[in-house]
Amino acid sequence: MRQGCRKYKPFAPIALPDRTWPDKTITQAPVWCSVDLRDGNQALVNPMNLEQKLEFFQTLCEIGFTEIEVGFPASSETEYEILRALIDHDLIPDGVTVQVLVQAREHLIRKTFEAIRGAKNVIIHFYNSTSTLQRRVVFHTDMEGVIQIAVDAARLIRRLTEEHMAKEDVDIRYEYSPESFSGTEVENSVRICDRVLEELGASPERKVILNLPNTVELSTPNTYADQIEYVCRHLKHRDCAIVSLHPHNDRGTATAATELGLMAGAERVEGTLFGNGERTGNADIMNLALNLYSQGVDPNLDFSHMNHIKRVYEECTGMKVHQRHPYAGELVFTAFSGSHQDAIKKGLERMQNDADAAGIDLADAEWRVPYLPIDPKDVGRSYEAVIRVNSQSGKGGMAYLLRTEHGLDLPRRLQIEFSGIVQHRTDSEGGEVTPEQLWDVFTDEYLPAADPTRRWGRYSFRDVHQESTGDGADRITVSLVADGEEHQITGIGNGPLDGFVKALAERQIDVRILDYAEHALTEGDDSLAASYIECEIGERIFWGVGIDGSITRASLEAIISALNREHRAR
Ligand code: KIV
Ligand code: ZN
Repeated sequence: MRQGCRKYKPFAPIALPDRTWPDKTITQAPVWCSVDLRDGNQALVNPMNLEQKLEFFQTLCEIGFTEIEVGFPASSETEYEILRALIDHDLIPDGVTVQVLVQAREHLIRKTFEAIRGAKNVIIHFYNSTSTLQRRVVFHTDMEGVIQIAVDAARLIRRLTEEHMAKEDVDIRYEYSPESFSGTEVENSVRICDRVLEELGASPERKVILNLPNTVELSTPNTYADQIEYVCRHLKHRDCAIVSLHPHNDRGTATAATELGLMAGAERVEGTLFGNGERTGNADIMNLALNLYSQGVDPNLDFSHMNHIKRVYEECTGMKVHQRHPYAGELVFTAFSGSHQDAIKKGLERMQNDADAAGIDLADAEWRVPYLPIDPKDVGRSYEAVIRVNSQSGKGGMAYLLRTEHGLDLPRRLQIEFSGIVQHRTDSEGGEVTPEQLWDVFTDEYLPAADPTRRWGRYSFRDVHQESTGDGADRITVSLVADGEEHQITGIGNGPLDGFVKALAERQIDVRILDYAEHALTEGDDSLAASYIECEIGERIFWGVGIDGSITRASLEAIISALNREHRAR
């Protein structure tokens, strides 16, 4: 490739030394126009059929789009029929304007007016290509010729609108696109746009949409922003126009180009869900809307049912939403790395504590969770799916899953021990550990007695009896089963644990308790208790876990769990 790059020339920067957009911020949502059913559809291997287009249209309305480009009705019978179906079956909700695309050519414009009869709110979107390259290699004309095409089309559209409105009660608005705007000299873009505004009779009361497409993304996003600011500042009739962006994603920077274009003065955006569209696609409106949302700006679009939207999109287009797609991908709210999991867990806990302390609902608290730019719940995802475990994971994620799924609050050193066990298994078996597998590993390691079929321990116990010796100590009698044989063992100590350890010592089983923690697992009379005990057995340290309705039994089980683990480790 070393030689190959010589055939490419860098894009010439726009001369705009006093550009103002870098200091701007976006404080309100633009008007969104979905072009899924046109630009998106025309780019599909198998374009949508009528039924799919209608379903997609309805989903766009549910999301909250008020402007939807439904197709290019003069281009084909199918496109024509789809528009007719929407109008004839009264499927366009009040408040939604359908937009139709047409080339600046007389017979196509006439056919488009036929197609819209009966519609109440329409945007007629006409375009012709203006770029330096296309003028030279496709149209063999100069800028004057290109301006003339646009002016003729504008004149015809204005006349046909008058005729149409004389017959029907309809609101017709106009949109003009100098197609391939990003490859057009900015001075020429201004000239053609001003001429079109004049020809269409645009006024501050009847603004015309000037759509300035990044038809092919040719440079870094700041260049597009410069082009937009240049046009906004040099138009004679800026107050008669709504400046609209229509970015494509050839360089993978359509989202950035759109955001910088909005900072540069645009007030409307055309794009598609998940960025479907010609070549590398159009700007992704879902991505843009949620970027705004994450900055505290209401995007006026609702993506709270992201999974449903994704399903409709995938069924209708036959395209897949990538697992790492911003906000929507299956893995984007998932942390595998241990340090990330730990930080997320702590962030979520901290938010809950702060919300409790302030007496407010968690949903109303300021979102401050490391690694999660938005609350997954806002787009219909759950926290449970956030943390997933593989060989990269550390203790935080595993502890989080055990707490959220099973109510177990493991002490820190037990978390470390357990994560080593999980890592050992994932390293040797590879892949992800599901919450169910994680629980299996945990019970297999610490709670074998819970499942008699998996009983691997040397010890278990049947019963425990506790009585006071009268001098402040307790006599503990335990029926201990060792290798299938039951033994009564007794010890006197400071409480049941101490007594049990003494009783074990009588049998030359040396256990030293280093740490102890317990908590209730469930609420109510039949609540369960969990007990975690760190034991020194011989020269090694083992944690044991016990779960039982009685806290005494839970703690004795925890010691037995540690003893059994030591036995297995030999
Ligand atoms: O990308 C483009 O320039 C277009 C125009 C028709 C607006 O789709
Ligand atoms: Zn396009």
